[in-house]
Amino acid sequence: DTPLRDLAAARGIYLGTAVTGGKLTGGYGDLAGAQFGSLTPGNEMKWEAVEPARGTYDWTGADRVVAFAEAHGQQVRGHTLVWHSQLPGWLTGGSWTPAQLRTLMTDHITAEAGRYKGRVDHWDVVNEPLNEDGTLRPSLWGAALGESYIADAFRSARAADPAAKLYLNDYSTDAVGAKSDGMYALVKRLLAQGVPVDGVGFQAHLVLGQVPASLETNLRRFAELGVDVAITELDIRMTLPATDAELAQQKADYAAVLRACLAVTRCAGVTVWGFTDSDSWIPDFFPGQGAATPYDENLAPKPAHAGIAETLAPV
Ligand code: G3I
Repeated sequence: DTPLRDLAAARGIYLGTAVTGGKLTGGYGDLAGAQFGSLTPGNEMKWEAVEPARGTYDWTGADRVVAFAEAHGQQVRGHTLVWHSQLPGWLTGGSWTPAQLRTLMTDHITAEAGRYKGRVDHWDVVNEPLNEDGTLRPSLWGAALGESYIADAFRSARAADPAAKLYLNDYSTDAVGAKSDGMYALVKRLLAQGVPVDGVGFQAHLVLGQVPASLETNLRRFAELGVDVAITELDIRMTLPATDAELAQQKADYAAVLRACLAVTRCAGVTVWGFTDSDSWIPDFFPGQGAATPYDENLAPKPAHAGIAETLAPV
């Protein structure tokens, strides 16, 4: 069978996966390397991972994923420079003035994006900046600095790695609605200010049978602003145990998401958030749910895998 990554490339998009760097050996590594054209470190590039103590950097996990990707001719989606979660304790536990926070943020971006300069194709520069109603999330960053932190983050990232495509990324923005309207307005404002936003990521943590009908329309309206779009964290969860009917529905759902990306010229690619059910965040965060990825716990392809392959087949 033609690897998924080659099917995707022939259709002008990439098919990527989030990975756990420590597992990139054996059968897991073989599949990650052979089937996917882009890797996103699931946790290894987050601030708590790379700077556990102030000024003490640990790039081991991130380096491993980047080296693996290079050895397998894969792109890298860097994830993520500025987020409110998985921050180191020294940062969240400190008391900082807004000016100090701004400098901590831009120094962090300079250090991390600078280290991987020229080796990361896409950076999630700012992750999950919005509330469900589309307003600015009052995170550590938003509360202290207001929306201006986003522009500063993108400018710092551009300076640190001019070749990387710089993305804003969020969840529950897949459908047209209040949150995606907020994202749309934000991107418009940033572009009007000359902020170097190259793309918008749509995480697409979806529920079985609920691929938004407006997904393609939504991707297209962002593309028409003059940015790339990408599905960055796709998974489709269900209540366990999964039945054959549910796995068939999941196949249709994966196919629908791939079709939406293929239909929008500026959709750069689709990344699944873990390619095997044994490496998915869902069971830990949604007890009783899972089976959200294209391969089962034993690395056997599920119907969803066929749904992806069939949708990416040459036309
Ligand atoms: O690093 C510790 C380890 O030392 C400890 O032994 C172990 C015990 O549970 O926990 C480890 O930390 C875990 C970490 O992943 C690294 O494996 C955390 O408990 C766990 O909560 C954390 O979950 C990650 C989650 O982000 C946390 O925010 C998931 O793996 C990761 O897939 C998930 O990814 C996020 C994206 O970054 C942003 N969008 C949503 C997506 C899903 O939540």
